[in-house]
Amino acid sequence: MKHLLNFENEDKQYLEKLVDEILKIDLEKLNKINSFALLQFNEPSTRTRLSFSIAAKKLGIHVEESQDSISAKEKGESLEHEIETYRSMGIEILVIRTKENNLADYKTFKGISIVSAGFGNISHPTQALVDIATLTKINKLNHKIPITFVGDLKHSRVFSSGRELLSKLGFKIGVFSNKDLLPENTDNLVLFNSWDEVIDNSGSVELLRVQKERIENISGFDFESYKKNFQLTSKILDSTPEDFVVLHPMPINIGIEIDEAAAKNKKFIYQEQLKMAIPARIASYQYALGEI
Ligand code: CP
Repeated sequence: MKHLLNFENEDKQYLEKLVDEILKIDLEKLNKINSFALLQFNEPSTRTRLSFSIAAKKLGIHVEESQDSISAKEKGESLEHEIETYRSMGIEILVIRTKENNLADYKTFKGISIVSAGFGNISHPTQALVDIATLTKINKLNHKIPITFVGDLKHSRVFSSGRELLSKLGFKIGVFSNKDLLPENTDNLVLFNSWDEVIDNSGSVELLRVQKERIENISGFDFESYKKNFQLTSKILDSTPEDFVVLHPMPINIGIEIDEAAAKNKKFIYQEQLKMAIPARIASYQYALGEI
């Protein structure tokens, strides 16, 4: 074993040989042995990050994890050069989580697949796949409105992608929220005004956390009023049909969007969603690689 800190211990002949060895390496051949994915999470994540990491390993995809794209940006590097760098190093799939809504900036890149693990408040497609696969597995997609989203829809990428996927699948989407927390565009949404309306018209609810990190004046947010109107309590949950289910993408804030007893109710099936996390990311890689 040797250190490579400078060249003081090597002669000219050896250094020429070293350069020749570099030129002999067939990167294309090596890249074909295994795919490489770079996980670039610039916002916190537990479930998405771990499941992308584990799913890759199950598929034999090598994973590199990085949080430092921001530093390249800080040095003034353009996105084009950053992506070019990844591509030239054999990264085939770039999995990104970012607070930015700049999904469009990534759409035109070729020779690399960009997979959203959460862009700002506009995109979290693999969470939508988790949720729909979970409902499909338990035969809960037979309702005209399979899911009503409850809570902070405006700042939620889970809602944005869930809405997109459900619309494409031909479903209506229920929403129940404070008007300040509704999205600007409410096309194709069925707005409910009470828990009774939600329960009478939907097969499930997906509770959404108040996205504190995306609300400008969070200190002025009226949590008491929010809880009074939108918290799922065990009393409300007990009034739902036997087959009614509750989803949550997690992380959860018990005591805000759900009370403690409701969070322990068997109708709350977040563990079924968790079981779908790795399969959904396996399928996402296969989709990205053009295998399905
Ligand atoms: N649902 C979800 O995106 O969870 P994480 O933030 O833990 O990844």
